[in-house]
Amino acid sequence: MPLKKPAEIQEMRPAGRFVAHVLSSLREHARLGMTTKDLDAHAHGLIDEAGARSVYLGYHPSFGAMPYPGVLCTSVNDHALHGLPSDRVLEDGDVLSIDFAAELNGWVCDSALTFQLGTQTPEAQRLIATTEQALDAGVAAALAGGRMGDVSAAIGRIGRDAGYGINGDFGGHGVGRTMHEDPHVPNLGRRGTGERLKPGLVIAIEPWFMAGGDGYEVDDDGWTIRTADGSLAAHAEHTVAVTRDGPVVLTARD
Ligand code: MF3
Ligand code: CO
Repeated sequence: MPLKKPAEIQEMRPAGRFVAHVLSSLREHARLGMTTKDLDAHAHGLIDEAGARSVYLGYHPSFGAMPYPGVLCTSVNDHALHGLPSDRVLEDGDVLSIDFAAELNGWVCDSALTFQLGTQTPEAQRLIATTEQALDAGVAAALAGGRMGDVSAAIGRIGRDAGYGINGDFGGHGVGRTMHEDPHVPNLGRRGTGERLKPGLVIAIEPWFMAGGDGYEVDDDGWTIRTADGSLAAHAEHTVAVTRDGPVVLTARD
């Protein structure tokens, strides 16, 4: 398990602040009638301005049909994760998840948020709020001396208690010099099991819940993860450092 020294965690802070700033700016900027590609272009401009680097653009793991074409994942409604920025126009009531990671000063941070455009509906609001609560609970459980299963169980319990679908195939991950490091951070698990959490561990914690069942499907592009039953999905993510003084959220937004 890769561990960072306290000075290295300090070095990650500008990347965390930058990622937080871009997500806040996208949330401000998002309007009905825009496309998800417009949002991607906005984020790209902020990356260039800051002298940062996208870790999504051109990323090509084996499952992708093509290298990743954007700097954001934009997943709308039943699209849960890894939605490709496209000409899809944002419509009233759309539930938009934006996942963004970037490198600044040689360090990567990764974060995501979900919000609804235009008319707010109770179903979507409850799903989004529950996903954020699960993220908060996962962060609170990221304590030195604890176990990875404490984080997973905290997330999973909140999702299950709310009656939401959870799929264990995608979860959080270590973050550092690159976007994906060990260890895996599952969204389901049992307290007291799994790796021991140590000071210096930096992980992306990222619950994603589905309003319906646990199943998902992958589009032909190899990227887009959709709920199998067409129900809404929401995703929330922060990059968190485990320290002797407790969890530090590197991607906290004001
Ligand atoms: N940031 C996502 C995660 O939380 C992964 C994005 S995949 C990419 O793991 F291709 F878009 F980069
Ligand atoms: Co992410």
